[in-house]
Parts: sequence; structure tokens; C-alpha cells
Amino acid sequence: MLSKIAIIGAGAMGRGIAQLFATAGHQVWLHDTRAEAIEQALAFNRELLERSVAKGRLSPDELAATLARMRPAHSLAELAHCELVIEAVVERLDVKQALFVELESLVAADTILASNTSSLSVTRIASACQRPERVAGFHFFNPVPLMKLVEVVRGERTDPAVIRRLVDLAEHAGHFAAITPDTPGFLVNHAGRAYATEAQRILAEGIATPAQIDRILRDGPGFPMGPFELADLTGLDISHAVMESIFEQYYQDPRYTPSNLAAQRVAAGLLGRKSGEGYYRYVDGKPQREP
Ligand code: NAI
Repeated sequence: MLSKIAIIGAGAMGRGIAQLFATAGHQVWLHDTRAEAIEQALAFNRELLERSVAKGRLSPDELAATLARMRPAHSLAELAHCELVIEAVVERLDVKQALFVELESLVAADTILASNTSSLSVTRIASACQRPERVAGFHFFNPVPLMKLVEVVRGERTDPAVIRRLVDLAEHAGHFAAITPDTPGFLVNHAGRAYATEAQRILAEGIATPAQIDRILRDGPGFPMGPFELADLTGLDISHAVMESIFEQYYQDPRYTPSNLAAQRVAAGLLGRKSGEGYYRYVDGKPQREP
């Protein structure tokens, strides 16, 4: 079992992945180019775990042991001994490729390099690497400890042994691992496109508000969250980048056309919960819904 795990990118996803594997007994190192992001992520995880103790779900001893298994790493060189690196940095192909190229000069030849990308081609990320067979997608969902699914994405040249090791690791941490081919959006973000793009069209045509659309899709088909609530949770910078990426990868098939309304919000810095406003405004973390 992979026991030493590096996580790069201490944002919403990186911190959740760190918490998941530290809770499952693995040693975790968390790195980010912004030192304050690492500190904030570790403090965030501590608070969540302390709440679990207060609710009786975790003992004080387990809390101390879990916290001790999550360490900051202020440089990539500190990750050289890890058996698995999971990157959860910004959703940009050039950034992810450059990161993996640099990592290959630091880590052992058999270290697995996994990407939490939502929509970029794993095969393309791997194409920058000397050993593309060690690269795979490992696509978690937000919030990671609660969303018990992970897509294990098989790039064109991924070694099947790498896929097996990631599936074993995910299952050991209590997640269901779905092995998916490396197609645009994999399975979840591909299947979920229609729901997101049609909701955006309904909004653009003035037929209903985000609150009305979200409510109808929660109360009718029974989605736990509507598409606008989900976009605000994910971050519009991420969800819109996913839209654009899938659209481009399907050679601009109009079915996947991204929304101009989302593009405008991203340009204005209205990114959802993380910026205090997206489709909803947030006061003390709570959405202010208008009908
Ligand atoms: P985020 O914006 O919350 O965090 C990204 C972090 O990466 C930031 O702290 C940033 O400082 C850091 N970073 C950027 N470039 C870096 C580099 N070269 N080296 C080290 N750190 C770097 O983003 P979030 O939401 O955590 O997403 C990260 C990745 O996970 C993206 O690829 C995204 O598509 C994917 N993802 C996001 C989901 C979501 O719901 N937000 C769901 C599933 C996947």
C-alpha cells in the first residue's frame, strides 16, 4: 500500500485529499506555492477534525495521530521520498505539465504521478513526462472526505499496475473507485454537462432565476444540489474552465458550448463561495437566496 503521499495545491481539493488519506493512516505532505495556503488548509482540516471529536466520531488520540500525519512541505524537494504525488493545482495544462516535469527530476523512478484534473486530458499531461506510464488521473469530488467517489483515469500509456494501486488506495480510504477512460470530462463531468449547460441556457433566456432552477432540480429529480449551488461550491473559475476544456476537446461541438454568463462572472471575480459571491451572495458562509 502506498504510505507516503505528497499533495500539491492546498486549495479546496488538496486539503480534502490530505484529510482523507491522513485519516486513513497514510503519511501526507502538503505543498503549495503560497505558504499561507498550506497553513490555512492545515488549520481548516484541524477545525473539521476537532468537530468530529466534539460529535464523538473521532477520539482525541485519533485526532492527534491524524494531525501528526499531515505535514507542510515548503519546497518540491521535500517531496522526493514520496511514493505517490497527487497534484490539485490550477486547472491549466501547461502548469500541470511543468509541475510533473520538475517532479520527475526529484522523485524515484517508480513514484506515481496522479492528477486531480476535472477535465484536462491525462494523456496530454503525461506526454510531457519521461515516464508517461506512471501518470494517471485521480479525480476526487468536493468535499473530498464526504463525496465517496473517485475516478481513476487511465491515460493512453498508463501502466495498468498504477491503476490497480490507485484503486486499492482509494478503497482503503473508503472511497468507491471508478476506472474511466481518458475522454473529455471523463464520466462524471461529461454526463453532468447537459444538466449544467441547459440550466445556464434557462438562466440566459430569463426563464427562471438560479434559486428557482436549483430548487426545482433538488425537489423534482432529487439532486442534492442544484447546478448553480454546485458551481458556487466548485468555484466558477474551475467549473467554467471545465466547460471550456470539454468544449475544445470535442472540437467545439455546440452541445458543450460554455455560458457567457459564467464567463462574465469569472471576469468580474464572482467565483462563488470562495470569493463571497457567485450566482448567490454569501453572508457568514450562507447563501442569500432571492426567489
Ligand atoms: P483552488 O484554487 O482552491 O486551489 C488551487 C491551489 O493550487 C491554490 O492554493 C494555488 O496557490 C495552488 N497552486 C497553483 N499553482 C501551483 C503550483 N504550480 N504549484 C503548487 N501550488 C500551486 O482549486 P481547487 O478547487 O482545489 O482545484 C484544484 C484542481 O482540482 C483543479 O485541477 C480542479 O479542476 C480540480 N478539481 C476541482 C474540484 C472542485 O470542486 N473545486 C472538483 C474536482 C477536481
